[in-house]
Amino acid sequence: MTNDNKLQGKVAVLTGASRGIGKEVADALVSKGCKVVIGDILDKDGESVIASYNAEGNRAVYLHTDVTKYSDNVALFKLAEKEFGGVDIVVLNAGIIGGANNLFGDFDDERDSKMMDINVTSVIKGTKVATLALAKRGGGVIVNTASIAGLFANIPHVAPYTASKHAVVGYTRSLDLLKVVCGVRCNAVCPYWVETKLLHNLHRDTQDIDPIEKLVANSPRTKMETVVEAFMLAIEDETRVGQTLVALPDGIQVHERPQSYPSCKVPDEFIQTFIQESIVDYKNQLAVALERYESM
Ligand SMILES: NC(=O)c1ccc[n+]([C@@H]2O[C@H](COP(=O)([O-])OP(=O)(O)OC[C@H]3O[C@@H](n4cnc5c(N)ncnc54)[C@H](O)[C@@H]3O)[C@@H](O)[C@H]2O)c1
Repeated sequence: MTNDNKLQGKVAVLTGASRGIGKEVADALVSKGCKVVIGDILDKDGESVIASYNAEGNRAVYLHTDVTKYSDNVALFKLAEKEFGGVDIVVLNAGIIGGANNLFGDFDDERDSKMMDINVTSVIKGTKVATLALAKRGGGVIVNTASIAGLFANIPHVAPYTASKHAVVGYTRSLDLLKVVCGVRCNAVCPYWVETKLLHNLHRDTQDIDPIEKLVANSPRTKMETVVEAFMLAIEDETRVGQTLVALPDGIQVHERPQSYPSCKVPDEFIQTFIQESIVDYKNQLAVALERYESM
């Protein structure tokens, strides 16, 4: 299913890869011969990751990128194009778990919008920019980092995080048509708890005292290598379109989409017409969007 040489020379853009899951995926891509471009707000960590790749003769660049801003996303993809001639693989991974998980906290607009902004809106913005860069190349793959919290919901202490990751799964699953329109595949990876700074900071970030800390401390872990394997499957296996790969303590599973209810069924002929018309419409819109992107 996977081919070890397939990624040689490909260009990958990753957000939130100065450390944690993103850095491990970047490591795996570099080891397979990819050139990587990392965007993050942790500049010192990001620069040091890049320095380690370049010291070993690989090609990599880092750019300070706040994923919540369109201007930063555009600058990141333009840098990849300038340095390496184009983009083939995109991993939209930047995310936070803390800050907004405060059910009975005071009413703070900025704090309570931040998680949706970083975890959700930035994925939408990143996808819009990435799609243009990938379309210029004739296609490619976007993998969004969701979470097991994007599929299941039962912990009030991380309710906003759960809502944000459900949104990432829903957004990713809505984009199958991009494959036909411009050759772009979108998949999501949903890790269960994996040891990173995000997990270590959960207690401090959630401003919660005991219950969530105890729960997480006593929960199983997914091995980082399993998470990385899920990303590599989502990237390398071209048959995977709109898939949600769950990285679990006992391995990887594909989470199938729930089917619609029989009473909501639209006749097939209308679905087919909708798809055909949408493809034509989107191809026209893409041409205009590419011109706009080129002029930036
Ligand atoms: N660790 C887990 O248990 C776990 C489980 C499921 C999903 N995830 C998801 O995995 C992703 C990576 O998390 P991690 O566990 O490696 O944690 P991490 O904190 O080590 O990494 C998150 C990265 O995102 C970056 N980031 C945060 N805000 C940013 C912004 N505005 N602009 C650019 N970069 C920004 C951080 O600087 C950091 O490098 C996140 O989306 C997280 O929600 C983690």
